[in-house]
Amino acid sequence: MKLLPFAALGLAAAISAPVALADDPVVIKFSHVVAENTPKGQMANRFKELVAEKTGGAVVVEVYPNSQLFGDDKVLEAMLLGDVQMAAPALSKFSRYTDVLALYDLPFLFQDLDAVDRFQQSEQGQAMLDSISRKGLIGLGYLHNGMKQLSSSKPLRTPEDAAGLKFRIMSSEVLEAQFKAVDAAPLKKPFSEVFTLLQTRAIDGQENTWSNIYSKKFFEVQPYITESNHGLLDYMVVTSKEFWMGLPDEQRAQVNAALREALDFGNQIARDKAIEDKGLIAESGRSEILELTPEQRAQWVEAMKPVWKKFEKEIGADLIDAAYAANT
Ligand code: LMR
Repeated sequence: MKLLPFAALGLAAAISAPVALADDPVVIKFSHVVAENTPKGQMANRFKELVAEKTGGAVVVEVYPNSQLFGDDKVLEAMLLGDVQMAAPALSKFSRYTDVLALYDLPFLFQDLDAVDRFQQSEQGQAMLDSISRKGLIGLGYLHNGMKQLSSSKPLRTPEDAAGLKFRIMSSEVLEAQFKAVDAAPLKKPFSEVFTLLQTRAIDGQENTWSNIYSKKFFEVQPYITESNHGLLDYMVVTSKEFWMGLPDEQRAQVNAALREALDFGNQIARDKAIEDKGLIAESGRSEILELTPEQRAQWVEAMKPVWKKFEKEIGADLIDAAYAANT
């Protein structure tokens, strides 16, 4: 075999090695766990289009839905390692990074999305986006999904009906306390496992929004859904400080502008889908939707509201008061 001189070997290596060219696009991997036909799925897809438009292709967003890339339990770690650049986990999934976001899990805190908007746009609501910055993450904005409902294998009209049943929850201490308050058994499980857990009857129920219950087909394996509107499922769009601050100023501004527009779009979809997907579930006849009487609802509030006191120190009594005041 003829040996190549050193210089030629060096040249060959230089040709075959993948080199980042100056005009290679910046890639933003956006990982999420829900279906594409949901407020978050649609927001992410719109963001991808808007980023392409506004940066003229200099920044490319790759969207990975349905836990394809990471589940919410891993995505923030992956972000800090640079394996993914953006995500929008539920506010319930930040407990390892901050205490204050647990506010959003308190049962019966907000009466509707208008109240949530008023609080999130306030100075205190906006300041909460910075609560993860000490951990190297940046909260870029809130995104709605909507109010949570209770689905179950048996009809839930009063808190006693939930006693002894197993409910899947997101990884949140507040949600754990909420179900314990009605003598139920909460189990922290990833979103990607919920359908199978329900289908195989390993668990009895779960709490989620109309769009998640519809798009992940939970209604096909849960004969009852109580329209409880007892809690909120909202998201925070996050990125890592390292990635965000590493973008040239102009690109960062363009991506940020794209995100603002995509969030407005996603927030409108959240409102529309809550109505549309509830209607589709009702039409399917697979699941009976139970409405609570004012008396029954008052019983759930009475049973679950002591959870507020339990987390008052961690979250801050002033913050809880401010959030509650947004209802009026
Ligand atoms: C859940 O785990 O139930 C939700 O956080 C899923 C989602 O992202 O809406």
